[in-house]
Amino acid sequence: MLGRHLEGMDMTAAQAPSGLVDLTGRVAVVTGAARGIGLGVAGLLAGAGARVCLGDLDADTLAREVESLRGRGLQVLGHPADVTDPAGVDALLEAAAAWAGRLDIVVANAGRMTEGRVRDADAREWDDGLRTNLTSAFLTCRAAIPALERSGNGRIVLLSSGAASDPRTVAGIAYAVAKAGIEQLARMLAVELGGTGITVNAVAPGAVDTGMARGFGGEVLESYAQRSPLGRIATVDDVARAVLFLVSDLGGFVNGEVLRVAGGP
Ligand SMILES: NC(=O)c1ccc[n+]([C@@H]2O[C@H](COP(=O)([O-])OP(=O)(O)OC[C@H]3O[C@@H](n4cnc5c(N)ncnc54)[C@H](O)[C@@H]3O)[C@@H](O)[C@H]2O)c1
Repeated sequence: MLGRHLEGMDMTAAQAPSGLVDLTGRVAVVTGAARGIGLGVAGLLAGAGARVCLGDLDADTLAREVESLRGRGLQVLGHPADVTDPAGVDALLEAAAAWAGRLDIVVANAGRMTEGRVRDADAREWDDGLRTNLTSAFLTCRAAIPALERSGNGRIVLLSSGAASDPRTVAGIAYAVAKAGIEQLARMLAVELGGTGITVNAVAPGAVDTGMARGFGGEVLESYAQRSPLGRIATVDDVARAVLFLVSDLGGFVNGEVLRVAGGP
């Protein structure tokens, strides 16, 4: 299932490759981090030495996962937050600042799949889809900029998707259009924030083995796996490692880019 090579792979947050990446002293906020890609990113950044504040709507799952990361000796904080709400975003960033005293890395990852194409998506689903998948990232970045400027080495990574550029995607229309907006948001912020030391990039995964993608059903995922030159869909770790590259010194001169993580064209 889900393509050759995927079964048996370590699906938990990996430790960073030794020696190459060291985030000791850096502080990160990851949104939508109670599960899936956000949780994997948070674990990988913390494994590389960062202190990581995880935000999510789902307070119970968040508390459980934060406890489990702490059990691995990682420096993490969980803060329940709805990042479609400016007050929720502010509270998340304030919690991180109170805990760690600085902010260097923001990964705006929170999102949800939307239902329907133009003829069957109602206006509320459209509005909420844009708010959850695009406005949330705008609000998170805007609120984080002052602290990231003080860092002198700020990093923002936004989560886009292959759906941003594929008009034949199985994703809902609000989701796909929001993700296209994410990519332009990354480019525009990269230009606007030039000179602050903050870089802004987007990561655009194809199908990733998380609850969101599993919602499409095994047959759809199998077809994604077969279309990929690498013969499988992505694991959470595949995506988390691309994020780690962009937020680390290795990716320091990469700015305003969209990094596809899809196993090939
Ligand atoms: N899974 C894929 O195939 C795939 C592919 C491309 C891009 N992505 C993107 O990656 C990101 C993570 O996706 P995932 O697959 O891990 O999804 P997921 O559904 O497994 O996890 C998403 C998390 O975001 C949280 N969340 C949703 N709305 C929120 C809000 N308003 N405030 C705070 N938290 C909120 C959820 O509670 C959940 O914990 C999303 O932006 C998604 O669009 C996923």
